[in-house]
Amino acid sequence: MTRYANKKAVVIGGTHGMGLAVAEALVDGGAELLVTGRNRRNVEAARAKLFSRAHVVRSDISDMTDIATLGAEVGQKLGQIDFLHINAGVSDLEPVERVTEESYDRAFNINTKGAFFTAQRLLPLIKDGGAIVFTSSIADESGTGGMSVYSGSKAALRAFAKVLAAELLPRRIRVNVVSPGFIDTPTMGVAGASAEERAAFMEIGDAVTPMKRHGTADEVARAVLFLAFDATFTTGARLTVDGGLGQDLSPIPA
Ligand SMILES: NC(=O)c1ccc[n+]([C@@H]2O[C@H](COP(=O)([O-])OP(=O)(O)OC[C@H]3O[C@@H](n4cnc5c(N)ncnc54)[C@H](OP(=O)(O)O)[C@@H]3O)[C@@H](O)[C@H]2O)c1
Repeated sequence: MTRYANKKAVVIGGTHGMGLAVAEALVDGGAELLVTGRNRRNVEAARAKLFSRAHVVRSDISDMTDIATLGAEVGQKLGQIDFLHINAGVSDLEPVERVTEESYDRAFNINTKGAFFTAQRLLPLIKDGGAIVFTSSIADESGTGGMSVYSGSKAALRAFAKVLAAELLPRRIRVNVVSPGFIDTPTMGVAGASAEERAAFMEIGDAVTPMKRHGTADEVARAVLFLAFDATFTTGARLTVDGGLGQDLSPIPA
């Protein structure tokens, strides 16, 4: 396929889940790609999946030295890029009283600070007319119990994205956010979730989602790539991929 031939892209947090689905669609379409992840074993596995068509590197988004090194590596391997996808994110499900300074810092360092400084470092490498898509969550607006820190970290990310969209208007770089609901991924976005917890999470998601099912990583990837390449008159926007969960939908009363 040649859908993305001659396009160059970077996917931050693309070794499994939704980020990998975006990376796979891009390489299938002929793009040249650099993908990151933190866990070495997952980096190796993604490298095997994406064959030789993507540079897959270990880089921790919460480490400022790694961000600086990544900038140099992207410049050296790809040069100017068309699309930057900042997808890495983690969530600890914990009620307010269980939140620790450590879990708070972890969420904000990855989801918010890391995303911000990665965008800042890679900005000079994005072509004028290119695009950035951040992965947020419907939790960036909702009041779901157990997600105070995660929601705050993603709401801040959403705010950063809007200002970035405004500041990048002169360079015609569009900046948008995709906000998924319950999506079937290896972690479901929840750090250290056991198989049982993941299954329970999925069951709750299917029950509360108006479309009565969870989404797939491919469904999110299609929305991300729409924002990246097709939505040429859209910037500063938040696109939900949530089966209606964040939309306050009510069925017709019986
Ligand atoms: N799944 C859901 O239901 C859901 C819902 C709403 C929003 N989200 C958001 O969607 C995004 C993707 O979620 P997902 O479910 O696809 O998650 P996932 O399967 O856990 O994938 C996350 C990706 O980010 C990477 N990553 C994690 N920490 C990193 C770090 N410190 N530095 C660099 N890379 C790192 C992971 O690599 P390693 O772990 O191998 O290092 C992996 O490649 C996240 O931002 C999440 O918050 C998920």
